[in-house]
Amino acid sequence: MNPLLKKLQPYPFERLRGLTAGVTPNPAYRPISLGIGEPKHPTPAFIKDALTAALDGLASYPATAGEPALREACAAWVERRYGLKLDVATQILPVNGSREALFALAQTVIDPSQHLGAGGPTVVCPNPFYQIYEGAALLAGARIVFANSDPARNFAADWSSIPESVWATTQLLYVCSPGNPTGAVMPLAEWQRLFELSDRFGFVIASDECYSEIYFREGTDAAPLGGLEAAAKLGRHDFKNLIALTSLSKRSNVPGLRSGFVMGDAAIMKAFLLYRTYHGSAMSPAVQRASVAAWNDETHVVENRALYRQKFERVTPILASVMDVALPDASFYLWAKVPSHICNGSDETFTRELLAQYNVAVLPGSYLAREANGMNPGQGRIRMALVAGVDECVEAAERIKAFIQAFIPSQSV
Ligand SMILES: Cc1ncc(COP(=O)(O)O)c(C=O)c1O
Repeated sequence: MNPLLKKLQPYPFERLRGLTAGVTPNPAYRPISLGIGEPKHPTPAFIKDALTAALDGLASYPATAGEPALREACAAWVERRYGLKLDVATQILPVNGSREALFALAQTVIDPSQHLGAGGPTVVCPNPFYQIYEGAALLAGARIVFANSDPARNFAADWSSIPESVWATTQLLYVCSPGNPTGAVMPLAEWQRLFELSDRFGFVIASDECYSEIYFREGTDAAPLGGLEAAAKLGRHDFKNLIALTSLSKRSNVPGLRSGFVMGDAAIMKAFLLYRTYHGSAMSPAVQRASVAAWNDETHVVENRALYRQKFERVTPILASVMDVALPDASFYLWAKVPSHICNGSDETFTRELLAQYNVAVLPGSYLAREANGMNPGQGRIRMALVAGVDECVEAAERIKAFIQAFIPSQSV
């Protein structure tokens, strides 16, 4: 067996199952889950129709690079969304969801033969983070180093906490904007700093942007800044050492379709295409056709965003009246602090008691982060995914409010 498999950590939901295994949720309430970050709005009918209308394509093997029609639809979306003109032949590749691509990219860019005297190659990522970054780094033979998010700076990662000696061994930096679980969007100044570090130390930046279409503010610059967009604004038109990953899962409510694409530095994309050919990650022709339909339509995305906006507008004030939580820049998560007088501020105890007393599932923040610089920045926080219907989310918020207001310390389970 590959010994690196032993380094993988249990997934947050596995830990949540363990935490709540002995809990009997109060049967007086119907269950509401804010735990799993999976979109639950219905898939638009026209996407399903495009999928079923394309089943004749199953008789042939698809190309790893995807059909030109798909790459063109992706490029047209990038131009509408970010005002960038990409070369469809060299700067765009379809992927089977951003998760596999985030993983595969590390296998492509990490050189495990380097920096052996200095602890091996390094992957840096924010903390808390999407757990695939860690698994991808470890299985590629790298170590992972975390930059804690700072609640005082809109949860921006503290890149200054990474010593120069670590940057010197860094081969890959994951960033997540809008962030899971914080919802924070990286501003241009932060991008500039990361580009400078990438230029100095030669590492690749993988920008995970799968929540880019779920945002709450109005106006011309309300849509989250993309990595490639930031690069272009700073005159980096070749996107040197930068790859952005995006996905239809959240934008179009198709997490089961497994469809996204990556874009950026043509030299990295060339190596990535080679890797993917051997890995066998070509996209099904039917999925490609459905994806073309999805990328070409913006109406359903606007409607989807409006539904999330409605939920956040109603839920956030209810929760903000009893705990430290604010409307994030984007994403479908609330990243809230457990009040220190409730369950001693413990995210795990809060999660267990809330489930036991009010049948609402949330995710302990500490499961989404690791200890770094002497602290776990998810500790004492919970993540709530507002993926259920508007009424269910509002009801969950009312129950959480009631739980906090009625909390008696001796009720600890
Ligand atoms: C931050 C982040 N990146 C990537 C993904 C993967 O999404 P998909 O593979 O469906 O594109 C998720 C899914 O929850 C996520 O939260």
